[in-house]
Amino acid sequence: MRKEVSGKQQAAGGRTVIIERAGRPSVSLRVPSAADWDVLASELAGSLKPGDILALSGPLGAGKTTFVQALARALGIKRIPQSPTFSLMRSYELPRAVHGIKRLLHVDAYRIEQASDLLALDLDEELSGGETVLVIEWPEKVKKWLSTKSAIRLTIVNYGNI
Ligand SMILES: Nc1ncnc2c1ncn2[C@@H]1O[C@H](COP(=O)(O)OP(=O)(O)O)[C@@H](O)[C@H]1O
Ligand SMILES: [Mg+2]
Repeated sequence: MRKEVSGKQQAAGGRTVIIERAGRPSVSLRVPSAADWDVLASELAGSLKPGDILALSGPLGAGKTTFVQALARALGIKRIPQSPTFSLMRSYELPRAVHGIKRLLHVDAYRIEQASDLLALDLDEELSGGETVLVIEWPEKVKKWLSTKSAIRLTIVNYGNI
């Protein structure tokens, strides 16, 4: 089983997220509580298009899955994304397309150990339909695959850690 969130991470209170998009200056935002991801998620959802990849970095307990939940809500998805502990990938249909986006694909690469694990996911094929946005936790695990893409990068750190 996955380890529980460390007390230290939770005790610190809030998070800071650094957002990096190709061709734009990076921005950092304060996200004081878990509920506050909605603002950023709605903002981002408004500018996403099919084929976009969001790479979510940060230690265990940083708030990556919490952000995915907020993003799903912002896209109108009713089912709440959970940490895909046993599956690496989960797919969420949008009840109504948003700028052509019909599906949110949530990958948690935490358990990826070798290239074949990633190949099995066939992310290129998954993205090729032109209707999917991919969010990926632990993008460091699929660095090579991501190096050929232009992802929006979100790095979550605790207050006080930058
Ligand atoms: N901005 C935030 N400020 C304070 N706590 C947060 C924030 N975002 C998430 N959390 C809390 O951190 C904990 C771990 O979040 P989770 O999304 O599961 O982390 P990860 O997916 O990065 O391992 C949860 O209890 C969540 O409510
Ligand atoms: Mg998670």
